[in-house]
Formats: sequence, structure tokens, C-alpha cells
Amino acid sequence: MCGIFAVSGEKNGKAGEAVLKGLKKLEYRGYDSWGIATQEAEKIVVIKEVGKISKATPNFSSSECAIGHSRWATHGKVTSENSHPHFYKTVTLVHNGIFENYEKEKQRLIKKGHIFTSETDTEVIAHLIYEELQKNNTPKDAVRNVANIITGRFALLVLIDGNSQIIAIRRGSPLIIGRTQNTSYIASDIPAFLEYTNIVNYIDDDEMAIVEKGEVEYFDVVSGKSILKRDIEVSWKDEVLDKGDYDHFMIKEIFDQKSSLASAINHSDEEINNFIEKLQKGNGVYMVSCGTAHKASMSAEYYFSQIAKRKINVVPASEMPAFEHFINEKTVLFAVSQSGETADILEVLEQGKKKGATIISITNVESSAIAKISDNHLPLRAGKEKAVASTKATTSQMALLLLLAYADSKRLNEGRQILQNLAANVNEMINPRYEDHIKEVAKKLSDIKNIFIIGRNSLYPMALESAIKIMEVSYIHAQGFAAGEMKHGPIALIEEGTVCIVLGGDMETISNATELKSRGARIIGVAPERDKIFDDWLKVPESSCAQSIVSILPVQILAYYLAIERGLDPDMPRNLAKSVTVK
Ligand code: M6R
Repeated sequence: MCGIFAVSGEKNGKAGEAVLKGLKKLEYRGYDSWGIATQEAEKIVVIKEVGKISKATPNFSSSECAIGHSRWATHGKVTSENSHPHFYKTVTLVHNGIFENYEKEKQRLIKKGHIFTSETDTEVIAHLIYEELQKNNTPKDAVRNVANIITGRFALLVLIDGNSQIIAIRRGSPLIIGRTQNTSYIASDIPAFLEYTNIVNYIDDDEMAIVEKGEVEYFDVVSGKSILKRDIEVSWKDEVLDKGDYDHFMIKEIFDQKSSLASAINHSDEEINNFIEKLQKGNGVYMVSCGTAHKASMSAEYYFSQIAKRKINVVPASEMPAFEHFINEKTVLFAVSQSGETADILEVLEQGKKKGATIISITNVESSAIAKISDNHLPLRAGKEKAVASTKATTSQMALLLLLAYADSKRLNEGRQILQNLAANVNEMINPRYEDHIKEVAKKLSDIKNIFIIGRNSLYPMALESAIKIMEVSYIHAQGFAAGEMKHGPIALIEEGTVCIVLGGDMETISNATELKSRGARIIGVAPERDKIFDDWLKVPESSCAQSIVSILPVQILAYYLAIERGLDPDMPRNLAKSVTVK
């Protein structure tokens, strides 16, 4: 949620240009407005605008140091006033996260005569830092003191007039430093600076960095003492973000599933068994996740029930407070997340940790906060997922979860074999002909208003996931139901031509679909065999217990082409951002 990026020590005076370029690579984190502050000879100059940074062409004066931000609005509408950087007198800053208790501080400052020009929580931080500087604190201590006032997760980059430093501080939101001999880069994510360096230092929670003319010093926020950081060399290949020949990241990432499923299950027996050992020690397992990862988790509830005869409590992370009283030192909290930085999940894990719960997780980002807080973690190895709509990470989550269910029932090899066959089938299934067929189906549907999706067993969560995929990129209203539930109410909505996607070709599901067909529904079947009631058929291979994994694939492609047919950008849908780092 929001991308932040800074450069210090840009000897050619092109810091503004470098920040603009870096922020374009972080645009998936937020894209409703943007802003950049350059530190010029006499003053700090701020440029900010509403709209996507990828379309921006600002001019900068010469500067060696700059900070910037690409926004996903939390507090206040999408306006230039509310976009970052925010400033007050000598303090200019960009912020990723939420200052939860800002209103109280804002009211206190208003009483003292402070005037605010935006509706944001961020602007209050600039005022607070200024207040601390007025007490003769050093810039470093002023920022540390304000960090102690803030509740909530944040990453901040601060510039102060007359000082050539960038002060970077983090609690909960990602912040990574990339270093070359003369220049340092500070970013929410590595791709922003990867063209300059792959040597990185991760700033951890309650740590800060002071960067001056390209040199970096690290400090502990609580003690203020200097700390040393290890240089880590990241793999260029893993972080490369290139659409290649594809028009969008979403369709590229859908095609990446030709190989990503095989990578997801490519963990050693020892790694899988160690993970399962932790899960088995629990007296009560809660699987916590959000959005699409939650739908993958719901499928896993079926896998563990049917394969390992284990009950997993699957709860959307934001709903966990209602079940918090069940959490104790015997509980296992099992987090499932693509980004590994979703705030709702982190909140649950942090509370659980305090109560002594064991934390295990699967994420696609190995250096993420969720991976770090976990007692055991398995990476998805799906490769970078950049489109806002999750596709390859979802099927990797399901494949790994299915493998874990087999390991839990001491049939790891059997699970591996099933998933290896699945990976091979998917590799064959996704091809340009298949894509063209789905594109044709999308053309016929592009102006409809509603789509219903039904599925049974582990295909029920995929009906819910299908609805998310269609809604988030095509803005068509879509709703998923358990196949047997339609007749208990929603069937009232079916009329001549209502589009219903039917996941699965089993007798009971076909019988439910026939009830819809009898009332005029237009049926798109996603199944291994064509049934006579299907108006259109999206073929998927017969995959037994892994049917949920293959069945979501054609719907991902359909959602993509519905967006294209409707002239939308599937990579950056309105109102969304790739990772949700606020509660
Ligand atoms: O990074 P995470 O997997 O924790 O993200 C969870 C959701 O925010 C995410 O799946 C969201 O629902 C996607 N936009 C769905 O495509």
C-alpha cells in the first residue's frame, strides 16, 4: 500500500529523475496520485499530481537527493493536497502505513495554532517532527521521538531543510536499502533500484537509517545506538519484472503457471515434514489470510479434511478478533499470503505470538514480515507477482497446501506424484489456442451486468475466488455460491440470459446447474467433459483432489479478457493496490 523511494548521492544531479523512474516500478503498490521532493541547493522543491505516475513527465532541477511516493489513499480523497510528500515548515516527508492515533495529536496541534492543508494522517507527522526540532532535538532524535508517539505500522522518509540527510524509519511496513559505492537507494521493494545494485540491507522494525551523500548509518530506534547491517546479495533473476511479449503482467503471470506449480512443490521432504511437525503439535490450527489467499485457504480446509482428516479453522484475518480467546500456547496460527506483508494478518500473528502460539506460514516473498515472524516458513517460489489480481501465487498456495495435507497423512510421495502430474497437465493446458477460445467467450460477455459462479466441495471456494477475479479487474458484479445453495435463495435472481459459470461436472453440480438452466441461465461449464447443458465449455483436465487448482485457471483468463474487452487496465484496477499494509 503506497510505494516509497529515495535516492541519495546521485552525483549527476539526476535524483528527481531517478526517483521518478524507481517509483514507476513500484506503481503496483498504489497508483492514484504521486509526488517527489528534491533537495536543491537552497531549498526542498515538491512536485505532486493526481493520476498514475507511469503517465507523469515532470521536469526536475539538479539535485543529488530526492524522496518520492506513489499513493493508495487511506485518509482523505485522491487530491493533490492529500498526496505525498507532505511538509510543514522545515520538514518534508513521505509515508507508507497508518498513523492510527493521528486525530488526537492533530486536535492538540490545532489548539496550539497549527494549520493543516490536507486530510491526511501523514501531515500530522510533519508537524510533530517540526515540534520536536523546536525543542532543540537533533533530526535523528526528533524522528525517533515522533515514532514513539505513532501507533500503527509505518515506513517514513524524512527530509529537513538545511540538512542533506534522508532519515528513514520503519515499523511494520517494508523498507529496503540498495547500495552502490557512492549512491544509496531506499525503497518499499527491491525492483525500484535493481537496475543500479543488487546489494541490499533490510531495515527491520524499530530501526532507522540516516543516509547522507550516499553513505548510510543504521540505528536502533529505542536505544538510539548504532547498529551494523549485513550486505545481502539478491538474485537479479528473481526480482526482474519484465512483461516480455505480453501486454500485461496479469496475463504473463497466468502463463507463468506453466512452471510455477512445479516450483511450489519443489521443497525437500525434510522441509515439508518439519513444517508439518509444527502444525501437528498444535491443539487447534487457525489458518489466517485475506482476499484470494483466503479462498485458497478455504480450499485447503477441504484438502486437510478429506486427505488428512484434520480440521483446520479457516478465518479471514480481519475476523480473527472474534476468535482470539481460543488462541493460547498450544495454538498454531498458519498464515497464507502472497506478499507476506498484509496488515490484517500481521496483526493476528503479533497478538498470537504474545500468547505463545506457534506461527507457520507460506508466502511468496521470503524476506517479508510474515516470513520473519514465523517459527517455520515455506516459500511459494512463484516468482514476482506484480499484477494486482493474484493468479500464479494462488495456484502455488493451493498446490503447496495440498502437498502439506498429503504430508500430514504420511502420504507425501503420493501427493507429490499427483501434483507433478497436475503441473504437467497445466503446462499443456495453457496455450495460445486455449487462450483464444476463452477470449471469444469473453467477447460474448463483455456487456453483461452480473455473473454467478457455483461450485461444490473444494470448488466452492473457487467459485468465491472466481467472483473476486472477475469483479476486481472487469468491474462486472460477480458472486460465487456453493452449488447446492443457489436453490435456497439466490436462484430468484436467475432470468433469461443470466450468466452462470459452473465449476465441475459431477452429477450433483450438473443437477444444480440444470435448475439454473431451466430458469433461463446461460451456462459456462468448467469441467473435464462437455455436458449438454453447457452453452460454452472451458475444458480442464481431470485432476481428482487437485480439481480446484486447474478449475480457477480458465476463469483467471476469462477475467483478464473481460477487462480487456471493456477497455480496462487489468494490472492496476481502480481503488486497489497489490498489498494491503493497512488495517
Ligand atoms: O499478499 P496477500 O496474499 O496477503 O494479499 C491478500 C489479498 O489482499 C489479495 O489476495 C487480494 O485479494 C488480491 N487483489 C486478489 O487478487
